[in-house]
Amino acid sequence: MVTKDILYIGVNDHDLDLFEGQYIIPNGIAYNSYVIMDEKIAIMDTVDKRKCGEFMENLKNALGDRKPDYLIVQHVEPDHASSIKAVVDAYPDIQIVTSGGATRILPLYFDLDFSGVQVVKEGDELCLGKHVLTFITAPMVHWPEVIMTYDKTDKVLFSADGFGKFGALDVEEDWDCEARRYYFNIVGKFGQQVQDVLKKAAGLDIQTICPLHGPILKETIGHVLEQYQTWSTYGVETEGVFIAYVSMHGNTADAAHKMAEILEAKGCPKVAISDLAREDSAEALEDAFRYGKVVLAAPTYNMGVNPIMGDFLHHLSIKNYQNRTIGIIENGSWSPNAAKTMKETLAAMKNINVLKHVTIRGALKESDTEALSALADALLA
Ligand code: FEO
Repeated sequence: MVTKDILYIGVNDHDLDLFEGQYIIPNGIAYNSYVIMDEKIAIMDTVDKRKCGEFMENLKNALGDRKPDYLIVQHVEPDHASSIKAVVDAYPDIQIVTSGGATRILPLYFDLDFSGVQVVKEGDELCLGKHVLTFITAPMVHWPEVIMTYDKTDKVLFSADGFGKFGALDVEEDWDCEARRYYFNIVGKFGQQVQDVLKKAAGLDIQTICPLHGPILKETIGHVLEQYQTWSTYGVETEGVFIAYVSMHGNTADAAHKMAEILEAKGCPKVAISDLAREDSAEALEDAFRYGKVVLAAPTYNMGVNPIMGDFLHHLSIKNYQNRTIGIIENGSWSPNAAKTMKETLAAMKNINVLKHVTIRGALKESDTEALSALADALLA
């Protein structure tokens, strides 16, 4: 139960291998859905069809012998909308309420007659009796058609993908870590659009946030709003340095770990390090946004940069990576060229300060320490 009148009818998914076909979800994912019980009854979104049967059971249990009046579709991505047909089949008189943008995307995915849907726009209201819902457009958080919904009676914001996280609801885990990984990988590109929504939210008295993934938020609302403010402005969340490396024979790894050791010895408040070839690249991307200073260490490969580092830089670029200080460690035996290639990609990003790079030739040597130490000083300056 969310409030006396708002019931949770979502489901956990521990069977999905990759969310969106790309993100590992060690603790699963929740597809949240809610029902608002009033003189009229509204269902807030559905769930992935993978879990449709369980969802319909939850819905029927919540409704008892009543029938729902409205199905509000805030976001049409199939992890939320692919059980619409089951709801419409069970309750043919239900009125679908959604945005104009959704009416254009829904038929692309679902073979249903959407001609009778009720279209709502910014500021429109829907009265259920005691509960009055106000619709808020939230384009690109994280698709263009998204709306959020504010219930001013219970002071609840239904926030679509906003404030969501990876992880099913039957697993206890830290909100920040998996919410940050979700945010930067799924919505990271759209900082300005998230800012637009935060400005609208600032004018509302919100006591509960009901996202489409992750836990219902109450006591921690102040904290999650602060985190979203930092993340959506590409601000620095944690002081310290993140080192992302790729290594072919262990030598660039040696240089990366030596750099971590030097930074720690010089009093760097926190040093995080990731082997991009072996650790979750979505977690590494999250850390690149979390810290203000980043070291990228990679070997030269085919006269450019090692492709795993090249992919990582591409991912940063398409997520609108910006406002960071970058140190580069390249490795190359006969013709080091990784730094030049990395700098070319970084040059296209906004407000990236690239420091004087370090070149390692083959194995890490004692004589390399001075250059690494100088890079550490520049990072900590
Ligand atoms: Fe959870 Fe954008 O779908």
